[in-house]
Amino acid sequence: MKAGSRYPLQVEVLPDYAALSERAAAIVIELLEEKPDAVLGLPTGGTPVGFYDALVASGVSLARARTFNLDEYLGLPRTHPESYYSFMKRMLYDRTDLRPENCHIPDGNAPDPEAECRRYEEAIRAAGGLDIVLLGVGHNGHIGFNEPGSPWDGRTRVVELAERTREANARFFSSIDEVPRRAITMGIGTILEARRLLLLASGSGKALIVQRLVEGEPTEEVPATALHFHPDATVLLDTEAASLLKR
Ligand code: PGA
Repeated sequence: MKAGSRYPLQVEVLPDYAALSERAAAIVIELLEEKPDAVLGLPTGGTPVGFYDALVASGVSLARARTFNLDEYLGLPRTHPESYYSFMKRMLYDRTDLRPENCHIPDGNAPDPEAECRRYEEAIRAAGGLDIVLLGVGHNGHIGFNEPGSPWDGRTRVVELAERTREANARFFSSIDEVPRRAITMGIGTILEARRLLLLASGSGKALIVQRLVEGEPTEEVPATALHFHPDATVLLDTEAASLLKR
């Protein structure tokens, strides 16, 4: 294992999912007030839905903001309702004043996926780097689609999804056979270069992985433990997700 220094993780426990979502939105709104052209790294999944609703409801302007999503399925048509592009369109792009040219998400249908990964890294760099990355966490500890065993210094790349991830995401498809097997994801190295990290976890189903994340030693087997190497990483939890923490 090799990564930089360890820093104390900031942990905030909110009473419930609504409060967690409001708190995440408040952090992003504050950033946008300071820096209207902030570069936001954004997640998909069930957890951030309340955050997007709260952000949209606040009426904050995203007219100058730039967004980069963490990941996208490989080979799923962009118009498929479960592509992460479609998710973002429903949750954010269609509901705010974000400009289409400022919404970035890996192209899961690029003819040369490896070149697409390089292009994506370059686009993040050209935007001046990520000001904040919001993250969910998988039951196996994945962040983005960085599954257990992903290197701390990984960049944006093509990855195989863990079976556990495909099973978890099957709820969005009519059967597990429809869940793509591969994706493009920002790497852990890419994520760690952001100026701030904000990981959201909600519900008792995440309590065990949250305990490993907050109280365990950093290990590549639990990708989310990479947050310990970031100088400004916050974990936002509701009481259920925090229920196995010692304090
Ligand atoms: P979820 O997914 O928010 O749907 O639980 C989290 C993740 O897999 O990162």
